[in-house]
Amino acid sequence: MNDWDKITMYISKDGDREAAEQLSRRLGVPIADSMGEELTLVFDGTGLSLVGYGMRYQGDFSRMLNRVTKGRLRHEMLVKIAKTKTEHPTAVDAAAGMGEDSFLLAAAGYEVILFEQDAVIAALLRDVLRRAREDERLREIVGRMRLTEGNSIALMPRLGITPEIVYLDPMFPPRKKSGLIQKKLQLIQKLEQPCANERELYDAAAALHPKKIIIKRPLNGALLAEKKPSYTVKGKAIRYDVVVL
Ligand SMILES: C[S@@+](CC[C@H](N)C(=O)[O-])C[C@H]1O[C@@H](n2cnc3c(N)ncnc32)[C@H](O)[C@@H]1O
Repeated sequence: MNDWDKITMYISKDGDREAAEQLSRRLGVPIADSMGEELTLVFDGTGLSLVGYGMRYQGDFSRMLNRVTKGRLRHEMLVKIAKTKTEHPTAVDAAAGMGEDSFLLAAAGYEVILFEQDAVIAALLRDVLRRAREDERLREIVGRMRLTEGNSIALMPRLGITPEIVYLDPMFPPRKKSGLIQKKLQLIQKLEQPCANERELYDAAAALHPKKIIIKRPLNGALLAEKKPSYTVKGKAIRYDVVVL
């Protein structure tokens, strides 16, 4: 289900009206006098957030600082898999979502090109990146992250570069747990369309000739595009299928 058509926008007193009006015109989302019944994009003093169903979601990379500092970054599964000797490596995140995995790659030194096709998620991500650039603890890392809104299947062939890796995490698998993080993600899931063209996504990634395609899947999820990986690294809830090209 995609709740796009039910979204409204609300600007609180300290919200950035100009940015809100611009986004409202671009998305065709009406500005309301009060919070919507269901999903509402809220502009307030902190920036942009998504509110609805008793939840509020706003990405915040500062919450990830504990994963990238004090020697902890190298223990991240994704970072271990993405390890490279290449200087100034580039990664393409073809399904960026809220950019958290990209943030880990950027913290590990990758220049990351992020593609996000959903205009609402892209707006939320743009706002997270904006706030992070104002935070001196995050500035350097997010300085390596470049977001383009649009479908990566169409946009990857125009990149004209050979990245070290292409990262694919194209859908939110249904989650059984209902912790706080899951709840926040559920809000974003209201917008998320399952990836209908996994094969095209994989082929567009492979056509860039990266050294590796890293695919994130639910632990027991089916292979993406039925592509047999060169190897798999398993975590508690997810696994990474790695195709070495
Ligand atoms: C599971 S989320 C990614 C989460 C992300 N790895 C993170 O760490 O936050 C998947 C996202 O990919 C986007 N997506 C799926 N297919 C895409 C495509 N072909 N081009 C661009 N974005 C895509 C969806 O809109 C969704 O926001």
